[in-house]
Amino acid sequence: LEQISEELLKHDERSPPVTYLQQFAVRFEYPVCFTRGLFAVDNRLFADTLARCEPHRRHRFMAFVDAGLAAASPSLAAEIATYAEHYAQQLQLAASVAIIPGGESCKNDPMLVERLQHDLVKAGLDRQSFVVAIGGGALLDLVGYVAATVHRGIRLVRVPTTVLAQDDSGVGVKNAVNAFGLKNLLGTFVPPFAVLNDSLFLAKLDQRERIAGMSEAVKVALIRDANFFQWLESHAGDLHGGDVDALDHLIRRCAELHMRQIAMGGDPFEAGSARPLDYGHWVAHKLEGLTHHAVRHGEAVAIGIALDARYSVLSGLLSPGADVRICTLLERLGFALWHPTLESVDARGLTILEGLREFREHLGGELTITLLAGIGRGIEVHTMDEALIARAIRWLKERARA
Ligand SMILES: NC(=O)c1ccc[n+]([C@@H]2O[C@H](COP(=O)([O-])OP(=O)(O)OC[C@H]3O[C@@H](n4cnc5c(N)ncnc54)[C@H](O)[C@@H]3O)[C@@H](O)[C@H]2O)c1
Ligand SMILES: [Zn+2]
Repeated sequence: LEQISEELLKHDERSPPVTYLQQFAVRFEYPVCFTRGLFAVDNRLFADTLARCEPHRRHRFMAFVDAGLAAASPSLAAEIATYAEHYAQQLQLAASVAIIPGGESCKNDPMLVERLQHDLVKAGLDRQSFVVAIGGGALLDLVGYVAATVHRGIRLVRVPTTVLAQDDSGVGVKNAVNAFGLKNLLGTFVPPFAVLNDSLFLAKLDQRERIAGMSEAVKVALIRDANFFQWLESHAGDLHGGDVDALDHLIRRCAELHMRQIAMGGDPFEAGSARPLDYGHWVAHKLEGLTHHAVRHGEAVAIGIALDARYSVLSGLLSPGADVRICTLLERLGFALWHPTLESVDARGLTILEGLREFREHLGGELTITLLAGIGRGIEVHTMDEALIARAIRWLKERARA
């Protein structure tokens, strides 16, 4: 051994380490389309989208439909099959349309992940085939994860069917399932092949789900676009009432701002610690978990937005009064901005504060939280004062009582 080490030392002296720098860039591109009646046979969008890279081939696909959507649209699976037959030159269903549970619980079941992965293998999907996920954000996350892991990635077409999925989660580059008690622990960053938003699906949502998805629009307006915020204020009544044109505009503008952030924010795969799109989310994620998802993601985001707006004022970043304006908009849209879990305490103090630690752990590196320096202007901070957070919580409680 000694002899070998001596040899190695000598070798080191003679030849310094050599480093080759491997470097390449990959360009990603995917269409995000808006339509009505995606699976009506006179609508070519779905067939043309799958065939966009190789128009002269027949494309095999599997479709997974959210059971909540299927219950509200019982004929959907048959419509997809009819559509595939009508466009048989371009499309081929590789297996019958599968209806799988939607909602957060579908992200909690490792057996379901394995079953779906097996389904793709049994149907013989390869890397040129397509997985089409049709449903809410939870189902898209689950099926996206399944598609990303089989054969190291099968093309994914997302068809988001909730407001939240159409204006936010569906247009992005992430997927995930929950594991070991942690939300979104296992997942990947993979841009989809395409995103197809059909506004007709939204008519099937109940009012609570429809409203829940609108908080993401308020969020992105607050950090990026003051004009959009004003538009939301002047259309809050229509949006609350379910006006289709107003909701269409909200979804498109919100999706556009999200896409711009991902493409031009300089960190599409979130390698750094900053996540401007997660304004209000350190509270939201914790609140969803603490209430076992009784508070929906969008509802928790609304509370997180309100709390961080008040905190921004208390810490001197945002002009007094802007917090009231933000809360008023959220309330007019239909959100409740108080939940008793906000004041629950454990041995370490306010339980919600664990959300800050978990947020940092999930991202890695330094704690980075987006707050507001104005309406339309996000600002990053690296510490939050617990006493001011407690004051912001009390303010929300008093507001709700008034
Ligand atoms: N990947 C990302 O970047 C990202 C971003 C934000 C949120 N998310 C995830 O999205 C999930 C929340 O998504 P969501 O708010 O869309 O809720 P959801 O997916 O939980 O769906 C809510 C309910 O609506 C039902 N449903 C779906 N479409 C329907 C329709 N058109 N008509 C009737 N019922 C319908 C579902 O079955 C479910 O019961 C969370 O798991 C969250 O972590 C992911
Ligand atoms: Zn969100």
